[in-house]
This record gives sequence, structure tokens and C-alpha cells, in this order.
Amino acid sequence: MWLTVATVLIAEALFFLPSLARARHDWLERHLRAGQIAALSADGGKLQNGIRADLLTLAGVEAVTLQESDRTLRLTRAGVTPDGAVRTDLPGDSLPAAAAGVIGGLVGRSDALLDVRGPSLLDEGGSVAVLVRRAALDHFLSRFALRVGAISLAVAGAVGLLLFCALTLLLVRPLHRLTESIAAFRADPERAAPYDGVTHGDDEIAVAGRELAAMQRELRAALWRNARLAALGTSVAKINHDLRGILSPALLTAERLQMSEEPGIKRAGDTLVRAVERATTLVRSIVEFAREIPVAPQRARIALRPVVAEAADQALHATPDLAIDNAVPEAMEIDAERASIVRVLTNLLRNAGEARAHHVRVTAEQEGGVVAVTVADDGPGLPDAVQAALFRPFVTGGRPGSTGLGLAIVRDLVRAHGGEASLLATSASGTSFRITLPRAARHTAPPAMAPQPPVELRG
Ligand SMILES: Nc1ncnc2c1ncn2[C@@H]1O[C@H](COP(=O)(O)OP(=O)(O)OP(=O)(O)O)[C@@H](O)[C@H]1O
Ligand SMILES: [Mg+2]
Repeated sequence: MWLTVATVLIAEALFFLPSLARARHDWLERHLRAGQIAALSADGGKLQNGIRADLLTLAGVEAVTLQESDRTLRLTRAGVTPDGAVRTDLPGDSLPAAAAGVIGGLVGRSDALLDVRGPSLLDEGGSVAVLVRRAALDHFLSRFALRVGAISLAVAGAVGLLLFCALTLLLVRPLHRLTESIAAFRADPERAAPYDGVTHGDDEIAVAGRELAAMQRELRAALWRNARLAALGTSVAKINHDLRGILSPALLTAERLQMSEEPGIKRAGDTLVRAVERATTLVRSIVEFAREIPVAPQRARIALRPVVAEAADQALHATPDLAIDNAVPEAMEIDAERASIVRVLTNLLRNAGEARAHHVRVTAEQEGGVVAVTVADDGPGLPDAVQAALFRPFVTGGRPGSTGLGLAIVRDLVRAHGGEASLLATSASGTSFRITLPRAARHTAPPAMAPQPPVELRG
């Protein structure tokens, strides 16, 4: 508000001197005309002395000389002489001259007389000259300056107040709500009330409001998801603990059955051991997934082709009808944790089988410092809902018994190796995923990679 008041006052101050000069000019002109009327009324001094003095007082002048073509009329207060009077011409009194007169008036003597001269309005070629007291002009100008100053202050105050109210209403208050909401959200993101300020319109505050509201919504949802995941992780960890206790005797029994001479019982033992192992693996994978900090993989230089073969083997337990082409070159090596990459590939291959694909082909090629592995199937393509939230945990196509963790685990494990998992393409004729893994560093130049004949594994 004070800034606005100051700005208006400065603007008014710039107009102050010209308006003061204008007022001075008008005052002098008024006295010139009043003097002319007084001279004409006195008619060459034929009136009594007292009346002539009254005429001069009413006109506000000390003496007047009216020069016309055929006569000269003079009227002078007793004892007044034009000696030392300061000459001022009208209408030659231009604005700069008038301004100079105002400034000169500040330094000149206030008891001096001003000799004001101008043309006669009645007689062309005639002139009028009056003597006026500087003190009278100074008094008029100081009252004028006071009045203008008071009006300027009032206007500045009113404009400042109006602007202050407008700025407060349109700018300060909305900004205050924005900052309040940001501070409250930072202090307690889960419980802070959502931003409810201005969000409609195209101005900056509305845009900032919309973005803030959206950000709060998304962050709150992410926090909620994380809290749920953390809770899930804790409960699954407990289940894992108890389940191991429950499954240990089952595993022991199954292993005994495996040792049986009877082929039927031995097969049942094998199946039971695999089932128990799958159960423990499943629970372990959920516990690992729910862990907040991913464990750094224990990397080693490994050949990729046998890893794909092992993953294919595991995937075929779940989906025995799937044909898997392992087209990874024999010499291709990666720098990775074997068990993790087997899990990654098993998940991708099993997904293809579960989506009722008939055929999957796994290929790999070197791209700079990484090995890019592609898993392409001829299945029905990803459901729209899965595509929209790809690699997010608990997103499934609705197959009974699926947890929706497979792809999220794939991405986490690949990223833990410094690589990336992505969807290459999906359509009604198939889906292909691509993962990048760090290539094993070689001491010698890598041999040329001849394409390997695909190895078909059938369950
Ligand atoms: N190759 C694929 N072809 C078609 N759909 C796929 C393919 N891979 C994944 N999907 C779809 O993506 C969903 C999510 O896969 P994801 O592996 O994350 O979870 P899931 O297979 O449902 O459960 P989980 O792997 O945890 O047992 C699947 O339910 C399936 O609908
Ligand atoms: Mg899966």
C-alpha cells in the first residue's frame, strides 16, 4: 500500500510545478483585468481620492496604467512608485517563464512590487500595466499549494487503498493459500487438507493451484501405496517365517519319498519337492519385493545361453505347452547375478505361456556396453489395463491365482543391475519385451557372433 501511495505522490509531484505556474499566470491575468476595470471606472482621476483608493483595493492592485490609442488612464495609490518593481509580461508569460517566476518567487523579496503588463482587451494596440504586491501573490500561491498538496495526499491514499485491496484479493490471498497448502502438505503429507484454492482459469495462480492439487493427489496416492506395500511386506515376512516352519517337515517327507525304490512314489516325491520349493520361492519373492532397499546383486561373469535354458526349463513347469526358442549366441556373456536373471527370464517366459502364446523366441545382441535381450511371443498381446500401468506391482490381466508382481520384479531386478526393462511392441499377434543387462568385460576382442540355431525346449 505504501508503495502505491508513494508512486501516486511522485506522479502528482511531477504535475505540481506546472499547475502552480498555471495558477500564478491566471492570478496575474485576473489582476490585470480587474486593474483595467478600475482604471476605466476612475475615468482619468475625476473621482474623489477615497473612491479611487477603494477601486484599487477591490481590484487588488497598487496602480494601473491603461494605454489606449486616444488616451492614457492612470490610477495610483498614494505613495506608490513603480521604482524597483519586477517586470512580468502577459500573455508572453509562457509555462517555463511562469515556472521560473514561481521558483524566482521563492527567493525574491516578498514586499516587492510586480509590474504586470499585457494587452488591452478593448482597444487593439492598447496595453494595460498594473502594480501588484508580491506578498498577495505569494499568499495566493501558498494557499493553492496547500490545497493541491492535500488533494494529492487524499487521492494517493484512496488509490493506494483501492490498489492494496485489489492486490490483496486477487494476488496476495491466493498466493498465501498456495504457500500455506504447500507448507501444510510438507509438514504432514498424509493428513494435510488438500489444496482448495483457485484452480480454474489460465492465470499463473490458477495453473500453480491446479498443478499443486494434482501433485498432492498423486503424492498422497503414492504414499498410500507405499504404506500398503510396507504393511504387506511385514505381514508376508511373518507368513514366510511361519510357512518355512510348516513346510520343513513336508519337504523332509517329500525328500524321503524321492529316495523310494518305487517309481510311482519317487515321482510323487519329486512333484511334492517341486511344489514345496515353488511355495517357498513365491513367498520369498514377495518378501524381497516388499523390501524397501533393493539388495545389490552378487554379479559374476556368466554365459547367457545356459541362463535362458534354465529359465525356459522352469517356465515349462508352469506352461508345458509353450515352445521356447533359445536363440542366444553361445559366446554371449553378461555380468550379472545368475539367480536374478533366471527369475527375470522365467517371469517373462511364464507370462507368455500363461497368456496362451504358442511360441516364444529369446534373442540377444550386444549394444555398446550392454546386452539387449528380447523375449518375443505370438500371444494375444497385453490387455489395455496392464499396458496403462506397465511394470507396476499388483497389476494383472485378471488370471485367477496371479499376483501381478512378475513384471514389477523383472523391472526391479534389471534396474538393480543397472539395466532397463521395456515393452518393445504388443498387438493381437504377439508381445515382445526387451531387457538390457551389463555386458561382461572382456580382456580380448570378442569373437564374431554367429547366429545360433534355436534350441527348442518342450515341456
Ligand atoms: N507376454 C504377455 N502376453 C500377454 N499378456 C501379458 C504378457 N506378459 C504379461 N501380460 C499381462 O500382464 C499382466 C501382469 O503380468 P505380471 O507378470 O506382472 O503379473 P501376473 O503374471 O499376473 O502375476 P505373477 O507373475 O505375479 O504370477 C498379466 O496378468 C498378463 O495379463
Ligand atoms: Mg507373471
